[in-house]
Amino acid sequence: MTKTAIVTGACSGIGLSLVRRLLHDFDSGEHQQWRVVLADINVDSYKAVKSTLPHLTRGEPRHLFVRTDVTNWNNLVDLFRTSFEWPGDGQGRIDFVACNAGIDDHALKNGLLDDDDGGGGEAVPTQPDLKVLQVDLHSIFYATKLLVHFTRKSRKMTSLHDDWKPRLVVTASMAAQYPFFLIPQYTAAKHGCLGLVRALAPALLKHEGISLNCVMPGTVDTGLIPPPVMAQWPTQHLTPLDTVMRAFMELIGDWERAELSRGVESDVPDRELKNGCAVECSSNWLWYRDPVPFKDESMRFVADQSREEGILGQFASTLRG
Ligand SMILES: NC(=O)c1ccc[n+]([C@@H]2O[C@H](COP(=O)([O-])OP(=O)(O)OC[C@H]3O[C@@H](n4cnc5c(N)ncnc54)[C@H](O)[C@@H]3O)[C@@H](O)[C@H]2O)c1
Repeated sequence: MTKTAIVTGACSGIGLSLVRRLLHDFDSGEHQQWRVVLADINVDSYKAVKSTLPHLTRGEPRHLFVRTDVTNWNNLVDLFRTSFEWPGDGQGRIDFVACNAGIDDHALKNGLLDDDDGGGGEAVPTQPDLKVLQVDLHSIFYATKLLVHFTRKSRKMTSLHDDWKPRLVVTASMAAQYPFFLIPQYTAAKHGCLGLVRALAPALLKHEGISLNCVMPGTVDTGLIPPPVMAQWPTQHLTPLDTVMRAFMELIGDWERAELSRGVESDVPDRELKNGCAVECSSNWLWYRDPVPFKDESMRFVADQSREEGILGQFASTLRG
């Protein structure tokens, strides 16, 4: 049986490494096979890597490129529809979506401190560019909505049953938990990803059978990091792609491909279904991180009331009628 995956930001760095891991073929025996839809805004990057990816196995195509700007709803609709309808073994199901495409702030401190108002003069300041929020955060909401739609369609149209659990994994960042001082918009976007994962995961799994998790890498040597910065970065504070790949594989339950990352340690190495997890990827370690602990009972009480069975949850279902 072949499973279908979508990877956004697929043609460079972490996304490309994930595509290669999913398309990895073992020499012998029965193993889970993936076919992968590569979604990226940059067509030239795809052209550069296309010939290095496996194309066919037993006559079936292994990958497909769909030019996608993840900030564009219609592009994402096309991406999901194309993936769902892709003929062959794996048609009519989207088993895994990696929301990985990302950019960081073009201007340091996001231009918020730019002197574009004449130092408190009459000029109206320039409107801040919020592109990072659109790419790194808003697009995850779009993809989630679409995965819910196509998962419902699969359950209706095919023989896939309730024990089928599509996986959604977001590439957040260590900046989801810690401030990254020079790039506040990136920090806000990645904090937002973590908030979305933690707040939505229980309901998404309960009502739609979809698991939702995120990875939070430290510094990884990819196109995102300018070469002069990378040249100065101490290697002991780099996180290898292999570590991040192990995190993805644990979160989608592909334990055979997880074990291709030799020498990576994980503090939750069990084979249970993961949901609502936030996995910090640091050097050769995976740390499953919990939300900050409550300081007092009042905060614990208020937070608990936002669950479906809490006061706010009951109120929400009353409103829905
Ligand atoms: N490199 C790091 O140190 C690091 C650390 C933590 C998290 N991350 C996150 O990892 C993810 C992948 O980044 P990377 O480090 O591999 O960088 P990268 O620049 O090598 O790859 C990012 C890819 O996203 C694509 N992309 C950008 N905007 C897009 C859009 N609007 N629509 C579709 N595709 C788009 C780019 O074309 C590129 O192929 C990002 O979300 C990034 O924030 C990176």
